[in-house]
Amino acid sequence: MAGILQDKVALITGGASGIGRATAVAMAREGARVAVSDLSKDGLEATVAMINAQGGQSIAIAGDVTAEADVANMVARTISAFGRIDCAFNNAGVAPRSVGPAGQRTHELSQSSVATMLSVNLMGVFLCLKHEIGHMLARGGGGAIVNTSSIAGLIGLATSAHYVAAKHGVIGLTKSAAIEYAQDGIRVNCINPGYIQTPMTKETMEARFDEIMAKVPMRRLGIPQEIAEAVVWMCSEKASFMTGASHVVDGGYSAA
Ligand SMILES: NC(=O)c1ccc[n+]([C@@H]2O[C@H](COP(=O)([O-])OP(=O)(O)OC[C@H]3O[C@@H](n4cnc5c(N)ncnc54)[C@H](O)[C@@H]3O)[C@@H](O)[C@H]2O)c1
Repeated sequence: MAGILQDKVALITGGASGIGRATAVAMAREGARVAVSDLSKDGLEATVAMINAQGGQSIAIAGDVTAEADVANMVARTISAFGRIDCAFNNAGVAPRSVGPAGQRTHELSQSSVATMLSVNLMGVFLCLKHEIGHMLARGGGGAIVNTSSIAGLIGLATSAHYVAAKHGVIGLTKSAAIEYAQDGIRVNCINPGYIQTPMTKETMEARFDEIMAKVPMRRLGIPQEIAEAVVWMCSEKASFMTGASHVVDGGYSAA
């Protein structure tokens, strides 16, 4: 039976690890040819090997989402390998612990940690949208894009003001682009994961697992595949009337 992304071409950023890797594998399982991009070359090769081992078609494109030339190259290489881009998952991101010391309130954050956070988690999504949509329009419209926001795009979180600001910004970009390109057949949505078991959350969970789980009605971390399945669906024709939406997958965290 054909998958729900049969014959589609997808570009995924942050595909060397966690949610991006699980989504690349799930999209390939559903019939897409997948271009996987990330800063981490080793991680990328591992993702591509997983896809090829299950009979899928995939290429690795090393690149930094904060560099416009790299983003333009990701789009150009995907088109040169597979002919077009139908779906994109703009997912590369960094956590507060990656850009500065843990546990800082707003007045303690350095300008450089805030700049790095906004550059990867917000500007990176903008640059991807810009180049992906440019391609989709040039070939006559049509396409589906999912950006990764977070529950941190919906609420405030202490000691994560820069992350929260960036993820709120992703929702703003998503809504605006959805309105602008609805008449061009390009759907733009975002996914808001709760706490998911990936390398990004490892240190936080080692330090604060019980405290955080007390706030999650399901009392567990999600796994990357639980986000991937939602993203695959949002990219497919099954979500044909969905645009400008933020889809929460969080074990009930934001409902509590
Ligand atoms: N894990 C969670 O609990 C959680 C919750 C909500 C949202 N998110 C978001 O999900 C996305 C994926 O996170 P994850 O949990 O899979 O983390 P992860 O650390 O496993 O994966 C993130 C990937 O992004 C890549 N990356 C970082 N900076 C980059 C850059 N400048 N250019 C290209 N690639 C870059 C990393 O190399 C890494 O492979 C992120 O946007 C994150 O903010 C994660």
